[in-house]
Amino acid sequence: MLLVTGGAGYIGSHTTVQLLQAGYEIVVLDNLSNSSFTALERVRQITNKDLVFVEGDIRDPKVLKKIFQNYPITAVLHFAALKAVGESMDQPLEYFDNNIGGTIKLLQAMEEAQVYHLVFSSSATIYGETDQWELEENMPLGMPTNNYGYTKLVVEQMLQKLSAASNKWSFANLRYFNPIGAHESGLIGEDPQGIPNNLLPFVSQVAIGKLDYLRIFGSDYPTPDGTAIRDYIHIVDLANAHLKALQYIEENRGNHAWNIGTGNGYSVRQIVEAFEQVTGQEVAFQYVPRREGDIAACWANADKAATEIGWKPAYNLQDMINHLWNWQTNNPHGYANSNLEVTDFA
Ligand code: NAD
Ligand code: WQD
Repeated sequence: MLLVTGGAGYIGSHTTVQLLQAGYEIVVLDNLSNSSFTALERVRQITNKDLVFVEGDIRDPKVLKKIFQNYPITAVLHFAALKAVGESMDQPLEYFDNNIGGTIKLLQAMEEAQVYHLVFSSSATIYGETDQWELEENMPLGMPTNNYGYTKLVVEQMLQKLSAASNKWSFANLRYFNPIGAHESGLIGEDPQGIPNNLLPFVSQVAIGKLDYLRIFGSDYPTPDGTAIRDYIHIVDLANAHLKALQYIEENRGNHAWNIGTGNGYSVRQIVEAFEQVTGQEVAFQYVPRREGDIAACWANADKAATEIGWKPAYNLQDMINHLWNWQTNNPHGYANSNLEVTDFA
């Protein structure tokens, strides 16, 4: 049985679908601070399988202890974290407490329960600002430009030290690039609260008429069209990497890190064009100055994930946008106003 922290969230819910489909039994621990119980209902609907849901906080040792006592957990997939970059600059302590403090509490509970396998949601942001746009795992890690990214760097370094101190641990640090899109069913997807910070949710809300126009942050980057380049990865491909990583660390102890991206970079302008092409909707935009802390370009070298864990993405940019649009048009208000019946899993 697996413990999935943050399993009601965007990445956690998509990964839980695949874990259930692969035959794992799941306990989800989530405080629903940035997600909805409906997402788990939908997970159940897609898979036709049950899961245990515990509403609680990873910083609460009593809850963690109970979970490890009551269920035969063999590994943890750790998604629970706060992730809003701007907010992390206004409320650094909240981010340190939740993302770093919360992970320490989780690791302590794991040690007490003698559960030593953990898949951690890391981020490409931990490479910091580099001259090299294609990022490889063996590059030195840099100082992220924001406090959110800093928490990811600290946790990765902590896991490194822990595994150096004792060979009982097995860690997979999955360095996500930019996850986008939704499950093909259109039943689960990204449901940002308020005005989205990230590009694709913003673009799709412009296309559906909820927002007036997109502000493109910066048109003077040293890229072919002057707008910033990122490596966008389909959420279902990203979810699939967790299964592969889990299988790998079950057999190989130590601290491992893999880039999870497609290896392709697209500029903001290219994303807008692709979105218009795939959906047939116009996306109004205006150029505005660069957003503080943004880098010009990055994409993954994902060869290590291909070689070591046998992971390769299957979806292209058109699929990502298609599935995002399917989710957006089927759920214009996200999970709000859902009329699905809520049942008690516990
Ligand atoms: P999300 O906000 O949708 O999911 C995070 C989940 O964790 C939410 O359901 C939230 O309610 C829960 N949570 C937060 N703090 C908690 C706590 N203290 N106790 C219990 N539950 C808690 O975010 P996501 O996009 O699914 O991200 C999942 C993980 O991946 C996070 O660790 C995030 O930092 C990381 N990540 C995300 C991206 C991205 O672009 N989405 C990129 C790189 C890394
Ligand atoms: C993508 C591109 C923006 C919004 C962030 C975090 C990172 C990771 C993923 C994890 C950039 C441009 C965006 C808009 C725009 N987080 N943009 N107008 O910044 O690459 O990564 O999310 O949890 O740690 O930093 O992603 O989607 O915000 O931006 O022009 O309204 O789109 O400048 O070039 P980013 P993003």
